[in-house]
Amino acid sequence: MLGLFRKRTPLVRQPSDLLALPLLRWSREDAWTLRDAVEGTLILGATGSGKTSGSGRLMARTMLSCGFGGLVLTAKADERALWEGYCRDTGRLDDLLVFGPTEAQRFNFLDHEMSRKGSGAGLTENVVNLLSTVLEIAERQSTGGGGRDDEGYWKRALRQLCRNVVDLLALARGRVSVPDLYRVVVSAPISLEQVCSNGWKQGSECFRWLTEADKRPKTPRECADFEIVADYWLREFPALSDRTRSVIVSTFTSLVDVLNRGMLRELFCGDTTVTPEAVQDGRIILIDLPVKEFGEIGQFAQVLWKYAFQRSIERRDVQQNPRPAFLWADEAQHFLTSYDFQFQATCRSAWVATVLLSQNYSNFVAALGGNEKGRVETDSLLANLNTKVFHGNSDPVTNEWASRLIGRTLQYRASGNHSHPSDDQVTAMLGLDWARENGTTSGGFSEVMEAEVEPREFTRLRTGGPPDWIVDGIVFQNGRVFKASGRSWHPVPFNQKA
Ligand SMILES: Nc1ncnc2c1ncn2[C@@H]1O[C@H](COP(=O)(O)OP(=O)(O)OP(=O)(O)O)[C@@H](O)[C@H]1O
Ligand SMILES: [Mg+2]
Repeated sequence: MLGLFRKRTPLVRQPSDLLALPLLRWSREDAWTLRDAVEGTLILGATGSGKTSGSGRLMARTMLSCGFGGLVLTAKADERALWEGYCRDTGRLDDLLVFGPTEAQRFNFLDHEMSRKGSGAGLTENVVNLLSTVLEIAERQSTGGGGRDDEGYWKRALRQLCRNVVDLLALARGRVSVPDLYRVVVSAPISLEQVCSNGWKQGSECFRWLTEADKRPKTPRECADFEIVADYWLREFPALSDRTRSVIVSTFTSLVDVLNRGMLRELFCGDTTVTPEAVQDGRIILIDLPVKEFGEIGQFAQVLWKYAFQRSIERRDVQQNPRPAFLWADEAQHFLTSYDFQFQATCRSAWVATVLLSQNYSNFVAALGGNEKGRVETDSLLANLNTKVFHGNSDPVTNEWASRLIGRTLQYRASGNHSHPSDDQVTAMLGLDWARENGTTSGGFSEVMEAEVEPREFTRLRTGGPPDWIVDGIVFQNGRVFKASGRSWHPVPFNQKA
């Protein structure tokens, strides 16, 4: 298997044959195949439990050795050096492309979205979906993660604004850019009187593009779109209540303004030197804007890349290009959006091995809004990550969840009972001295339903470090029986130094 996908032109085999190929072994008899990999992986464990240096390291290096392309999102500042090390050790350094402020790579995501090949290219809705996905992060920051009571209304209003600004620019000049998105929204009329005023017309970028779009030749469909766009900007938007308008405008500009300045403008709003499609040729794109260092800017940049990557890879045909790809997110809670659970439900047919690492279950719920919807989305996402590796953890919610997931089975429990002899005089009087000496003993077996792995077991797993550098993990795969253990789970020691 090693190196099967490493050549620029992958070997032509039946893709279905390739899925059964083993990538690594959990035990002598139990392999982790390509099929398992593309069904997604979740690695959970407390801080310092060995996620990164134990199972994470083994899986990353395995996929690199096998020639996967991939996208690596980063949360910690040392992740670039870590991946450079992995790539060096596996002979993949030439395939590593680092996207970050100190590098030359650029990605104009809007041009990419408007001009890419395949069905749906150039459609406003694609750009709107992309912006809405990244806006989810901006919105989460502004509401402190709790979501709003009337969340549905704001989401719709925000999408409507996005759709109309993107459509206006697409109709007027055939392309969309971040500075234009910003200028249209901040120069839109804020009252019906303003719509009629010459002062506004002369200075407004919004009005300029409306005039431009009006003049340009249009297909019948574009004519209908233009009517809707003009109605929105000249009637609906100025008639919104001041509060509603200011909330949707400020949420929109909180993202667009960040993209329009400094480093992100250079990285995302100019030329393009790399696109997510490079992963399909075996490149490993690492986004070196770690969240711990760059905060919200890093988060926007990485979510933008992740979404563009997800959309591009899920459209590919594995018959044409069977090189598997991975999506790697350590500290995955920083990069979650509600698109992930949709992607995860369908991405196995595109041969994408998603690997998410995080400390605990609650991180996911909190990142997806912290409410009931967040919980449902978390359950859906995690259910679609079929391989689960549990490392040492003291979080009771995660340990209970993992224990419940692995399940309960009928266990046979031996029971014994011994009653001590009574030293009661009555026993002696009755001549039952033998009973006094021996007491009585009974024994047997009972059947009880017990957790296969009790929650407390997760608190006892080894977490690496000297002297033996071993990290314990419990690997669980839904629907699988490990030959080595005869169960749906298997304890695996990971060597940090191997
Ligand atoms: N190169 C190394 N040298 C010494 N100790 C190490 C090394 N790499 C990891 N460790 C130790 O191994 C243990 C596991 O570390 P690791 O970084 O893999 O944990 P983690 O689960 O990824 O934690 P976090 O949630 O903080 O990312 C820690 O105790 C760490 O100090
Ligand atoms: Mg780690």
